[in-house]
Amino acid sequence: MDYKTILFEKKNNYAIITLNRPDKMNALNKQMFDDIDHAVKNIELDRDVWALIITGSGEKAFAAGADIKELHESDSRSGKLFSEYGSYVMRRVEELKIPVIAAVNGFALGGGCELTMACHMRFASENAKMGQPEVNLGIIPGYGGTQRMAKIIGKAKAMELILTGNMLNASEAKALGLVNDVYPQAELMEKVEALVGLILSKGPLAVSAAVECINASDKLSPMEGLMFESGKFGDTCGTEDFKEGTLAFLEKRKPEFKCK
Ligand code: COA
Repeated sequence: MDYKTILFEKKNNYAIITLNRPDKMNALNKQMFDDIDHAVKNIELDRDVWALIITGSGEKAFAAGADIKELHESDSRSGKLFSEYGSYVMRRVEELKIPVIAAVNGFALGGGCELTMACHMRFASENAKMGQPEVNLGIIPGYGGTQRMAKIIGKAKAMELILTGNMLNASEAKALGLVNDVYPQAELMEKVEALVGLILSKGPLAVSAAVECINASDKLSPMEGLMFESGKFGDTCGTEDFKEGTLAFLEKRKPEFKCK
């Protein structure tokens, strides 16, 4: 499949989506949301893809937000639809049942920052800058930023960032827990791909069940969450990978997981 605004690469057992409008700082337009949505659908149907990395092309930007030129045409009705569609695509990314990691290779502003927050983990290059500058344009974050940022870095800091539109540099983002870690630009993808390799060496079925349970903690009450976890724990106990993992431990050898 040829996409107009993203590159889609399938490696051994994971995929990489690269936001690809470098002359526009990879700004997110309607076509890019269509492309991401389509790629997510492909990933869901592909039994060989067990993790996803999202990054931006070039060395300047992950994504500098929603496409302001496109956005400028909005009125209150179309603005709401614009927000609902972007929000839906962010949820599609977040609800993937495989680990989704943002490799934040530069500016991640507005919708770009919101897309990183829909990912399950974020790793940044040293030149990354993150923030929600929408108030500078007379609008607010519209793809889940007000909701996810408060959960990730706490309500008071989210208030400060969203109300001022200030940007964080990479080390500030790490100090707040907005990114997991920071690497030199040239090492970012290598480090993120190494992490994916480590995660996928653990038995992708168990990894996927853990992703589902942690994601469920956003939606379920604590009691429902515990019950959901027990159900998924039971599911993993019914897999061949569980038998292999426990037997390998008892036989003092490395497990060979088969995703069954
Ligand atoms: N939407 C549309 N186009 C964008 C964009 C966006 N969100 N962000 C950057 N671009 C475009 C610029 O218009 C410019 O295009 P041009 O060369 O055709 O004029 C190109 O990308 C390069 O951006 P430029 O501003 O010249 O780069 P810079 O290095 O001076 O500044 C930023 C980089 C990210 C600080 C600056 O582009 C910026 O503030 N972007 C908007 C961020 C924002 O408000 N996002 C929230 C949107 S809701």
